[in-house]
Amino acid sequence: MLKTVTKVCEARKIINEWKKEGFTVGFVPTMGYLHEGHMSLVKKAREQNDKVVVSIFVNPMQFSPNEDLDKYPRDLEADTKLCEENGVDLIIHPQPAEMYPDGFCSFVDMTGPTKELCGKSRPIHFRGVCTVVNKLFNIAQPDRAYFGQKDAQQLSIIKRMVKDLNMPIEIIGCPIIREKDGLAKSSRNKYLNEEERRAALILSKTILMGKQLVENGERNAKVLCDAMRKNIETEPLAKIDYAEAVDFDTIEKIDTLKGTVLVAIAVYIGSTRLIDNFIVTV
Ligand code: PAJ
Repeated sequence: MLKTVTKVCEARKIINEWKKEGFTVGFVPTMGYLHEGHMSLVKKAREQNDKVVVSIFVNPMQFSPNEDLDKYPRDLEADTKLCEENGVDLIIHPQPAEMYPDGFCSFVDMTGPTKELCGKSRPIHFRGVCTVVNKLFNIAQPDRAYFGQKDAQQLSIIKRMVKDLNMPIEIIGCPIIREKDGLAKSSRNKYLNEEERRAALILSKTILMGKQLVENGERNAKVLCDAMRKNIETEPLAKIDYAEAVDFDTIEKIDTLKGTVLVAIAVYIGSTRLIDNFIVTV
């Protein structure tokens, strides 16, 4: 039976009981407004663990003042239904004051990998992500935690954090789930009007094009990214934030494609910022 708790102490009580019984725990941290992308992580967690925990928390710390914290879509009822249908055991749905009570002043602040790509236009974002994920890990005490490749830089950073700080948690990356026409599923797609929704296809089309160039032998990162930028510019409603190739483990820019490479783009469609990527091992 699915249970929803809002207090950290309630979550702890339930999870401590499970731990005593020897159950393994799989954890899927989310900001809610759940869709099939989130559910693909839940399904993987369901396959690999005795108990599945989902957190639903729109984390204020990872939004800059000029970003979409207030209008970020929320629908706990629909989320609960989806979790129930997909065999989730526990939803942790804390209020901001439960996570960040008065006097809160401890942060997880990573250097290197947080500085490129999304870190450039969202300078405080990954400090907020690392801090909240660390807190959620301490609350859920999972054996395994599931993250989507949709947010590839986040996935890389969480893997690094767990390694650097010796957290006894296995991080499992899961593939990008897309709409039928190719657009990567995202809670933020809700912001798009009809015209913007059509224009947003430029992201997945550009990813497909980039992938093809690499398959055809392109190894020069500048040539690849310039071609992708040019392709994005053909869409009048699109404004490029970045199109870059980096080493997936370090998120450092590369000149030549070698090893495990993350090719990532961020594009404004109107005022909505969307991301997409592919990872290739050369
Ligand atoms: P959120 O955007 O809700 O995403 C939660 C998880 O779902 C992330 O690991 C994300 O990569 C994954 N996800 C989203 N869309 C996906 C798709 N189309 N295919 C596959 N996976 C997808 O990412 C966050 O929340 C937050 O930063 C969080 C980690 C919860 C910390 O606040």
